[in-house]
Amino acid sequence: MDIDDINTVTVLGAGNMGHGIAEVAALAGYTVNLRDINEEFVQKGYDQIEWSLNKLAEKDRISADEAEAALDRVTTFVDAGESVADADVVIEAVPEKMEIKKEVYGAIDEHAPADAIFATNTSSLSITELSEVTDRPEQFCGMHFFNPPVRMQLVEVISGAHTSDETMDAIEALADEMGKTPVRVRKDSPGFIVNRVLVPLMNEAAWIVDNETATIAEVDSTTKYDLGLPMGSFELADQVGIDVGFHVLEYMHEVLGDAYRPCPLLAEKVENGNLGKKSGKGFYDYE
Ligand code: CAA
Repeated sequence: MDIDDINTVTVLGAGNMGHGIAEVAALAGYTVNLRDINEEFVQKGYDQIEWSLNKLAEKDRISADEAEAALDRVTTFVDAGESVADADVVIEAVPEKMEIKKEVYGAIDEHAPADAIFATNTSSLSITELSEVTDRPEQFCGMHFFNPPVRMQLVEVISGAHTSDETMDAIEALADEMGKTPVRVRKDSPGFIVNRVLVPLMNEAAWIVDNETATIAEVDSTTKYDLGLPMGSFELADQVGIDVGFHVLEYMHEVLGDAYRPCPLLAEKVENGNLGKKSGKGFYDYE
């Protein structure tokens, strides 16, 4: 598919990443279908897009008219089949679990136009394995945004074993049109580039606190004031979602071995539902 043939983008999943990706696509002028499994979830995603657009307008990053026009381009859906019926590109951002993603692809494949491209926002899972659930593995790739998508410049575009060059070119061009900087990941490997580097950082930070070498605030100070990252490791885990980082680590541990064993501190947060900003409490409090 040529970039000029892309008009409608469906985003599956209106959570932390999904609503942000939908917002980026709408700001770039695309018609956006945003879908989640019930009215409450999809409405919450839509409200978050509205909040974010207003915030961007407040800070003069966009005009009030641009914010309004972008919101007008977003339509919400609960029915998965309907949401992909006129899609040129489907970007899937449902929870980071192989079974859930496979179920979603199984449900939409026959409803999407034959030439539509499927792009998964997975943070780590195998693009090849996901593509094989569909009848279009050559039109399937990774399109990995970073949190918060509207502020982060990078998009990893990941090739699965079956992905065609045409698909990679189209999704890179789409990322470009969205004002992002695409970086091609040539091999489908757990965590791709960024999470292979970033998630172990969060894990090591958790081990340091777990063995009482330093406190959360002390570790975060070193990350910000020496390593020069914009957020501390724990602030970043809260921003991304502790559950997201934890699931990425679990997968890297399973496929790549013990170097990636998740720290129990992360598991404990996930078990208690303290997932970071999105739940109001993680390593820090947000209420
Ligand atoms: N939309 C609009 N505004 C937003 C927003 C959003 N989605 N998210 C936050 N803001 C607002 C905040 O509410 C805040 O507003 P107030 O000042 O009114 O309180 C404002 O933005 C903060 O923005 P600033 O530019 O003033 O602050 P900053 O310079 O610290 O930038 C940041 C914020 C861009 C998030 C920066 O801290 C940053 O780059 N952090 C690192 C994020 C990162 O590394 N993300 C990648 C994580 S890895 C990942 O996502 C992949 C994965 O698969 C796990």
